[in-house]
Amino acid sequence: MKLLSGRYCKKLADELAKKLDFKCASSITETFEDQELRVQINEPLYREDVVIIQSTSKPANDNLMELLLLVDAAKRAGAARITAIIPYFGYSRQDRPSYEFGPISASLVANLIETVGVNNIITIDLHSKQIEGFFKIGIQNLSSIKIFDSVIKNSSGAVVVSPDIGGIFRAREFSKKFNLDLAVINKSRGVNGQCSMNEIIGNVENKNCILIDDIVDTAGTICGAAKLLREKGAKKITAYITHAVLSGKAITLIENSQIDEFFISDTIQHEKLPDKFQIVQITDVLVNALKKISQHRSKH
Ligand code: R5P
Repeated sequence: MKLLSGRYCKKLADELAKKLDFKCASSITETFEDQELRVQINEPLYREDVVIIQSTSKPANDNLMELLLLVDAAKRAGAARITAIIPYFGYSRQDRPSYEFGPISASLVANLIETVGVNNIITIDLHSKQIEGFFKIGIQNLSSIKIFDSVIKNSSGAVVVSPDIGGIFRAREFSKKFNLDLAVINKSRGVNGQCSMNEIIGNVENKNCILIDDIVDTAGTICGAAKLLREKGAKKITAYITHAVLSGKAITLIENSQIDEFFISDTIQHEKLPDKFQIVQITDVLVNALKKISQHRSKH
């Protein structure tokens, strides 16, 4: 297998290549003056099984386009099969129309990726499971439990909390796995996008709370949830969030929040984050997923 990566995923690609003893194929991506992208793969990929790794995180449209261009270039260079590892799947929050006759943007993105010629996909903690149904090709949507499993320890007696109703399925998986109680916050968003939260379904008084979410973007959701939990008498508050988008003032908000411990994964690469951010690596989870694919292929 040969590994290719987008511009912002090089570190992850190197770690993966090292663990799997794969070669990273050399490629470059340039930006023209008008922001058009140009990719170039510097070696033939004839009959190769190619793995392309790219999170479609900020800048979401550039990274998505870079992924599509890399797939097209790999196919033209002769690749036999292409596996796209998309640790963070941008546009996943737009998995249903948000107004009458509105677009289903996550479905459009799935179509683009499929049409360009990807054979199968590995991704992590999609915003909702229904997105898997937007693809006709094979997709492994790896649960965030696989990532945070090793760090959620000594949690007996704690309560797993979903910061909104939409996240209840994810939180319930954690509560089942660790045999913990479950609570959910009733969140709504105003016209300006501001979160409002004032009700918790479940008991959090004098309990350690484990907040589970897929994305932290502006951090309004997670910090608002932590504030409410504290007001309702929660003891220690720990957050486990898969995708650290971290827009605007998110980092400062989290640093000054009621959250005692803040865990994220490295599906999205950041240059430097303050000490409060504890980063759990996804490499081993991806290695196992890739091994599964190659075992499956050698059997058929
Ligand atoms: C929403 O449904 C998601 O699961 C996250 O809770 C949301 O995207 C977080 O966004 P923010 O950090 O901007 O509140």
